[in-house]
Amino acid sequence: MIDKNLVKGAINVLNSNFNDQQGFTIPCEGLYPFQWHWDSGFISIGFAHYDPNKAKREIEALLSGQWANGFIPHIVFHNDSDTYFPGPDYHRTDLHPDCPKNVKTTGITQPPVTGFVLKELYDIVEDKADMLTFIKQNIDKIYKNHEHFYRHRDPNKEGLVYIYHNWESGTDNSPIWDEIWETMDPPKYKYERKDTTHVDAAQRPTNREYDNYIHLLEIAKAHNYDDAKIAELSPFLVQDPLFNAMLIKSNTALIELYELIGGHEEKRTTLNQWQTKAKARFNEKLFNKDLNAYVHYDLRNEKQLSHITSSSFTPLFAGIPSKERATLLVNTLMTKFGEEESYLCASFDPQSDKFNPVKYWRGPVWINLNWLLFRGLKSYDFIDIAKRIKADTLTLIEEHGFYEYFDSRKLEGKNGAYGGNNFSWSAALTIDLLKDKL
Ligand code: SER
Repeated sequence: MIDKNLVKGAINVLNSNFNDQQGFTIPCEGLYPFQWHWDSGFISIGFAHYDPNKAKREIEALLSGQWANGFIPHIVFHNDSDTYFPGPDYHRTDLHPDCPKNVKTTGITQPPVTGFVLKELYDIVEDKADMLTFIKQNIDKIYKNHEHFYRHRDPNKEGLVYIYHNWESGTDNSPIWDEIWETMDPPKYKYERKDTTHVDAAQRPTNREYDNYIHLLEIAKAHNYDDAKIAELSPFLVQDPLFNAMLIKSNTALIELYELIGGHEEKRTTLNQWQTKAKARFNEKLFNKDLNAYVHYDLRNEKQLSHITSSSFTPLFAGIPSKERATLLVNTLMTKFGEEESYLCASFDPQSDKFNPVKYWRGPVWINLNWLLFRGLKSYDFIDIAKRIKADTLTLIEEHGFYEYFDSRKLEGKNGAYGGNNFSWSAALTIDLLKDKL
């Protein structure tokens, strides 16, 4: 049974966060007043269920910020706002010759979800012909984006791309990065944070962490966002399992969509070559056999970062593990994260002393990660666990509303919802989960 009130509430959130004039959706008011890359992907999945035109406009708005070299930035600044730092004037992406001329953007990216989102849109809408026309107009832009990744962000030519900033991972202040921060000693920059004016500082990264974040951007700016220089100099250079799983899943979607469209043999061949190499190397390099989980690889310091996070399980969504390995992985998920008294799925290992259930990506449950895990578990036939993650997700939303992140502990009578409220992807993915028949 679909909960009509929950769908109605989710639609209200999405519609009120949609900027009709410029055709994009803010993640939430005040805290995130611009268009964010991976937010847009999840948001357009929600729109596709009730207003496909908005879904298309969302993607078009994102792609209006694409650089001439194929790069798609993590924020597109269509509008002005002074409620966010670092805003439109900080990034100076005009230092790079390929930046767009009509709109400001950042010079970092985010998990590349747009490829698989196009396939989701096609699968959801009734008017397939209309959506396929839209996809035909845009698919080459996503292909070019993937080509850019393999050309510029894979120095070993091993099929795994790096990120050079924690904001590129999407999991901003995860404890995974703590070891990297220890290798850095940035200046104490002078700037005014805005996030902690909207949200309790206990739920956000520390000031010292922000110095690291700014320092990484300063290095990129000092070298005009030149990929080769960044690869040579950035103290943060990581092969992230979530990021690479999104790229691989998006490659799969591009292959399927090019097949539907017909032709494009050369691109399909290249995509298949990328896939074979990427999946094999992912399984070799990013699986930790002691932890029975996928982990991050620190390319700068040549070592695995041996922590289990919700990102560790996202390779299921991209069909990366064998069935045998998927069984080991799901066993890790359930023994570490799946206890009766917890909601699935904490963003960081609840058994670690670095686990913090209220602080952003250091423990809380995130709806987009739960959606990725739900879909991954379902595709490998872990039906009962997929049902549990869906039920846990909907319980959190029903009890608290469309918050940004949630406490994984089952707290009696206490608030367990944090960050921004009326958060767009929480609303969008609730609609999609409710429509799923499982
Ligand atoms: N999520 C980041 C922030 O909190 C930016 O991408 O500001």
